[in-house]
Amino acid sequence: MSLVPASIAGVGESGGGAGGARHVAIIMDGNGRWAKKRMMPRAFGHKRGVDTVREICRAARGMGLEALTLYAFSSENWKRPADEIADLMGFLRMFIRNDLDEFVANNVRLRIIGDYHVLAPDIVEMIEDAIARTAANTGTTLAVALNYGSQQEIARAAARAAEKGPITPEAIEAELDTACLPPLDLLIRTSGEIRLSNFLLWQAAYAEMWFTEVLWPDFTPAHLREALDQFAARERRFGGR
Ligand code: IPE
Ligand code: IPE
Ligand code: MG
Repeated sequence: MSLVPASIAGVGESGGGAGGARHVAIIMDGNGRWAKKRMMPRAFGHKRGVDTVREICRAARGMGLEALTLYAFSSENWKRPADEIADLMGFLRMFIRNDLDEFVANNVRLRIIGDYHVLAPDIVEMIEDAIARTAANTGTTLAVALNYGSQQEIARAAARAAEKGPITPEAIEAELDTACLPPLDLLIRTSGEIRLSNFLLWQAAYAEMWFTEVLWPDFTPAHLREALDQFAARERRFGGR
């Protein structure tokens, strides 16, 4: 009889892809400080942040990542002034409108994590159209976290799991917004903050973390490469030895 409980058998097998990483998530932080340094309005930083998103999505695809998850708007970001929220929603509309064709053409599958249904109806419609148009794609999955809070996600998942049967880690995991994604390998945060800000708390249990002082608008594919190279050099033990 195996001494290994079924729930952890197989954990630790590494996948292919970029330096062994299959799924990378990024807390894209520092747009406001980037703009402030240039004595520009915060919206200018967010606009440049969208350019970085585009570049990093292309790079992730080129590096063969299976999934890239980007934290775009947290459930706590509603605390920001209304004009900044409106700017962010405007950039989100612009991003979907301008970049969807490229995703379709390049076999990118778009997913959303977080409770996006409460966003403006036109955005919800654009998102659902984008998800549908890329659903059959088999290349890199781009998961965008919108109105996302990890504690809320876990609570929702636990409630759904409870409706189906006993609440176990596996049952909760199967109901998380990220159930459609590979296990999280590497979590990156830009801008020098060393915290998770309610992002992927469950999924980060055994993820590697990489923090950089670089502000999101200055983040380049070379930084992603550096993070993946360092990831490849780390020894992951998952509690074993
Ligand atoms: C990240 O940049 C973008 C979002 C949170 C939407 P910030 O707007 O948080 O920039 P800083 O942290 O104020 O520099
Ligand atoms: C986290 O950044 C959320 C996103 C990047 C979307 P914040 O700027 O909101 O995080 P805190 O408030 O500094 O923790
Ligand atoms: Mg911030």
